[in-house]
Amino acid sequence: MKTVLSGIQPSGQLTLGNYIGAMKNFVKLQEDHQCYFMVVDLHAITVPQEPAQLREQSEAVAALFIAAGINPEKSNVFLQSHVPQHAELGWLMTTLTNMGELERMTQFKDKAAGKDSVGAGLFVYPSLMAADILLYNADLVPVGEDQKQHLELTRDLAGRFNHRYGDYFTVPEPYIPEVGARIMSLDDASKKMSKSNPNAGSYIALLDEPKVIRKKISRATTDSGSEVRYDPAGKPEISNLMGIYSQCSGLSLQEVQDRFEGQMYGTFKKELAEAVVATLEPIQQRYHDIRESGEIGRILAQSAERAREAADVTLTAVKERMGFLPQL
Ligand code: AMP
Ligand code: TRP
Repeated sequence: MKTVLSGIQPSGQLTLGNYIGAMKNFVKLQEDHQCYFMVVDLHAITVPQEPAQLREQSEAVAALFIAAGINPEKSNVFLQSHVPQHAELGWLMTTLTNMGELERMTQFKDKAAGKDSVGAGLFVYPSLMAADILLYNADLVPVGEDQKQHLELTRDLAGRFNHRYGDYFTVPEPYIPEVGARIMSLDDASKKMSKSNPNAGSYIALLDEPKVIRKKISRATTDSGSEVRYDPAGKPEISNLMGIYSQCSGLSLQEVQDRFEGQMYGTFKKELAEAVVATLEPIQQRYHDIRESGEIGRILAQSAERAREAADVTLTAVKERMGFLPQL
């Protein structure tokens, strides 16, 4: 059985982009794989976080994982900070990483752009992400398109370790959806939909109320034509919305195009809003039930215990190979 691992940062409201690009595949993959789904709180602090908010968001993201359909009886749902081996292997991976490799990371370049001062954690973050994945010898990593470059680095680090210290790590493969790997912003189809965008109208949060979702979609920017046609280069805004429709309805892009042939943008947007609401409403319902049940703490503790056991086996073997004197 293959091992699957992925993580989402608790650094703001999760968006429809997170759901379509990543979480939807988590749910699909758990059926026949051994899965680790993590709230990566150690990654979130690479930019300043308010402690009370970090706590709240961490629990909220864990609850959303379960509300989206991850079954904690089958999959491990836990916080990265509850498994200290992440930080330790993260350091070991940092020492295997070259500065030049980190300097090339586009996520770092984007996040650091225009800032006077940038935390060192933001720079070395891809080495910690590699540790997250290698710690469980994951075979598959379901992520959105923006994480592909980090996955490449993880593969290089796994190979470098194996070459230097003898084969140990599995070299992981990214698992990226064909449609929806990069959901774009509702106000600007040249930027990805992101929870860190200060304009809340640019994204749909998973916990947005139906009337907010309808309003955001009705105000979404559309190109000047009138045809609902999939053409990412020529009609990026409509194509982005069609991708969202396809992912929420289960129809292929071609079927979406056929369905709206000869119809106006307005009609399409109305149906799109209903498809998004129909996808998110049950998730929201379950989310509130889970938060009210008070069960999250117990679920996280049980998963973290299983994760620590697996992580410890890897870390011990890695340290031995690297030449650390074992403690008697
Ligand atoms: P993050 O919110 O940066 O922690 O991302 C968590 C996961 O969601 C990663 O796998 C991302 O690739 C994915 N993701 C984030 N934003 C989008 C988006 N706009 N479209 C598709 N996937 C996304
Ligand atoms: N870097 C990822 C992001 O920003 C989050 C992440 C951290 C992750 N560790 C991971 C994703 C391990 C997949 C596997 O989206």
